[in-house]
Amino acid sequence: MYKIITKRKLAENVILIKIYAPEIAKKAQTGQFVIVIIDETGERIPLTLADWNPSEGIITLVFQEVGVSTKKLGCLGSNEELYDVLGPLGNPSDIRHYGTSIVVGGGVGTACCLPVAKSLKKAGNKVVSIIGARNKEYLILENEMRSICDEVYISTDDGSKGVKGFVSDILKTLIEEGHPIDIVYAIGPVLMMRAIANLTQGYGIKTVVSLNPIMVDGMGMCGACRVSIGGEVKFACVDGPEFDAHQVDFDELIKRQRMFLDEEKLALEHWQKHRSKRV
Ligand SMILES: Cc1cc2nc3c(=O)[nH]c(=O)nc-3n(C[C@H](O)[C@H](O)[C@H](O)COP(=O)(O)OP(=O)(O)OC[C@H]3O[C@@H](n4cnc5c(N)ncnc54)[C@H](O)[C@@H]3O)c2cc1C
Ligand code: FES
Repeated sequence: MYKIITKRKLAENVILIKIYAPEIAKKAQTGQFVIVIIDETGERIPLTLADWNPSEGIITLVFQEVGVSTKKLGCLGSNEELYDVLGPLGNPSDIRHYGTSIVVGGGVGTACCLPVAKSLKKAGNKVVSIIGARNKEYLILENEMRSICDEVYISTDDGSKGVKGFVSDILKTLIEEGHPIDIVYAIGPVLMMRAIANLTQGYGIKTVVSLNPIMVDGMGMCGACRVSIGGEVKFACVDGPEFDAHQVDFDELIKRQRMFLDEEKLALEHWQKHRSKRV
């Protein structure tokens, strides 16, 4: 069992939890994720390691409540336990001294960008981050990003904070203004990552995305996380989750992510109806 040490609400439906998981904290590397199983009958949900502290044996996860499992997770409080946490899984990020790195985080993806920004900075890069959300209430981890990055730009869809528009609009402006950019890391909703990939491809800027297809085992055996990269089949859990953005078949990824929408909707309705008996 894995105890939740602290829980903090970062925004509406976005929660940060710290879990006591010493073996994972010891081995964790930037870009990796864990699979969380909430209770004995729970499904397996992948969540990116947002932070870890090997000396305290603690890992940090940030998740958005979107369906049954993440809502169930959001119902748990400090001192409650998770049935299982498996990991660290996936390949670590390919962190090098690139020069100037731009880290782009959309929504809860900003939490996944945090360790990337930290590691890029540690490797001697100038790190510029662009973080975005639909409005200022949904913007997360701004202070944490500011404490790591050389520059932080903000966008909100409604203009309630920073630039009105999308993170890709800010990136386009930086490119057009002639800022030197050696690599872009983009983590967030698939539509955002696709927009960033389309933009940077035109300028020949190396771009890495962290893909979030549906995963089950997280170990390369079930095939659920199949993605097409440069025309080849890859499994995001063992070959990724990070890939060259310009090689990703985003249309296929979007289709596969929506495969179980009807079942997910039904499961959520069922859970909401019976939740008082279960929580
Ligand atoms: C490597 C990886 C890292 C991720 N990291 C984070 C993170 O740090 N924070 C965060 O909020 N989310 C993260 N996600 C997405 C998260 O796993 C899903 O939001 C979660 O599994 C949804 O489960 P649910 O039962 O709450 O919602 P559902 O109602 O079951 O699904 C809602 C949507 O989430 C996606 N989804 C559903 N089941 C899975 C699954 N088993 N694996 C992946 N996606 C699924 C589908 O697109 C689906 O339409 C990550 C996904 C991957 C693959
Ligand atoms: S999740 Fe099963 S192969 Fe990747």
